[in-house]
Amino acid sequence: MKLRTSSGKRRTLLLSAATAGVVVAASIAVVGTAEAASTLGASAAQTGRYFGAAIAAGRLGDATYTRILNSEFNAVTPENEMKWDATEPARGSFNYNGGDRILNQGVAMGAKVRGHALLWHAQQPGWAQSLTGSTLRSAAINHVTQVATHYKGKIYAWDVVNEAFADGGSGARRDSNLQRTGNDWIEAAFRAARAADPNAKLCYNDYNTDGINAKSTGIYTMVRDFKSRGVPIDCVGFQSHLGTTIDSTYQANLQRFADLGVDVQITELDVQQGGNQANIYASVTRACLAVARCTGITVWGIRDSDSWRSDNPLLFDGSGNKKAAYTSVLNALNAGGNTNPTTPPVTPPVTTSPPPQTGSGCTATVSLNSWNGGYVATVRVTAGSSAVNGWTVNVTLPSGGAVTGTWSATNSGTTGTVSFRSVDYNRQVPAGGSTEFGFQGTGAGPGATPTCTVG
Ligand code: G3I
Repeated sequence: MKLRTSSGKRRTLLLSAATAGVVVAASIAVVGTAEAASTLGASAAQTGRYFGAAIAAGRLGDATYTRILNSEFNAVTPENEMKWDATEPARGSFNYNGGDRILNQGVAMGAKVRGHALLWHAQQPGWAQSLTGSTLRSAAINHVTQVATHYKGKIYAWDVVNEAFADGGSGARRDSNLQRTGNDWIEAAFRAARAADPNAKLCYNDYNTDGINAKSTGIYTMVRDFKSRGVPIDCVGFQSHLGTTIDSTYQANLQRFADLGVDVQITELDVQQGGNQANIYASVTRACLAVARCTGITVWGIRDSDSWRSDNPLLFDGSGNKKAAYTSVLNALNAGGNTNPTTPPVTPPVTTSPPPQTGSGCTATVSLNSWNGGYVATVRVTAGSSAVNGWTVNVTLPSGGAVTGTWSATNSGTTGTVSFRSVDYNRQVPAGGSTEFGFQGTGAGPGATPTCTVG
């Protein structure tokens, strides 16, 4: 387990005494923090970070629960309400009731809302579990597009893909129905999420990654590859469901990911109750504070009685009283750390085509998110004065460029003039309505307006 420095320990102990209301002259001299905040969220905000909780819509009627939530936290994550089984219980039929309740709670609190989770091998609706291959891929990417579009502009960070790596020493991907659609399913999901909500930070999230080990190294290698190829990834979530120890490389692991140019976040923190619980909570908090790009911490529940675990792993007991672990986290937050820099916003897409024309048939416009050597294109297909049942969009690429991936359409060819044809779920477009698909390419993006034909 990682030990703090002796000076850090002394300061924490003194702060604990002060918090407990014990009059200790030395503690006032050492602490002397007129700025010391008295809640987790306010204290984290002093270094530009958030302190959040996973919350459940079904508990929002509990007065003790909401009192703690409103007073202590400045970020929320839906524990289950934005997962695939909750948001798309039948294929193409979306239910945002639970997710919207969490979102509205977060908005009312002025809190950041973390979206969790667009794609995961678990908690898939039954209909998705029975799909395979290109049908599943298409359904999964449509799910990402639809849900990220519904919450566009409202989500601070999305867990786009959750838990896609195997446990153990392989550092390889986990086998799943999604993985069997092709190794590129994760990058396809990130591109679709970026196209749907360009301002949300896009995270990969996993567990048993709480130190430098084979699994975290597998993810590190993927993130490095994504960054080198321009796959849009902004952050990595470290769930941190911890036992009675913390890996000595916990902070170094966060730092090595941050050094790749992504934010890091502690996304599902809970710690087994026992002798070390308060210390481990403090160690995790200090590790985040020490890494400039660690933007915040989320605990996975509020009271022990709200937890998915039975070993009392949270900061408040079942009656809502603050535990020793709470005090150790607050003290660690108030001790400060590297100020979290404001990371630059994602550059909004540049629309390169004129608006669609009216009349029958269909029109298409393309928006590009470009970087040196590649781009992500989002194409909006709009029906004219009549409904459309099936469409084909032709896009002409400059010489040397090629399409490397497509979502929400199927393409014929990858160079020159490339045809993109509607797929089952987006072939029907009502009169005046529109739908989107996207593709990634190498080289410069298409310069001319795409053509759209019905059928
Ligand atoms: O809501 C139904 C209820 O109607 C039904 O009667 C009951 C019967 O089992 O089930 C209820 O749903 C449960 C749901 O939690 C809400 O309580 C599901 O069965 C149960 O599987 C689900 O567990 C969630 C679990 O993810 C699913 O894998 C936990 O609440 C949630 O804390 C947990 O969260 C995950 C993260 O998403 C990813 N990382 C790990 C973390 C802990 O497992």
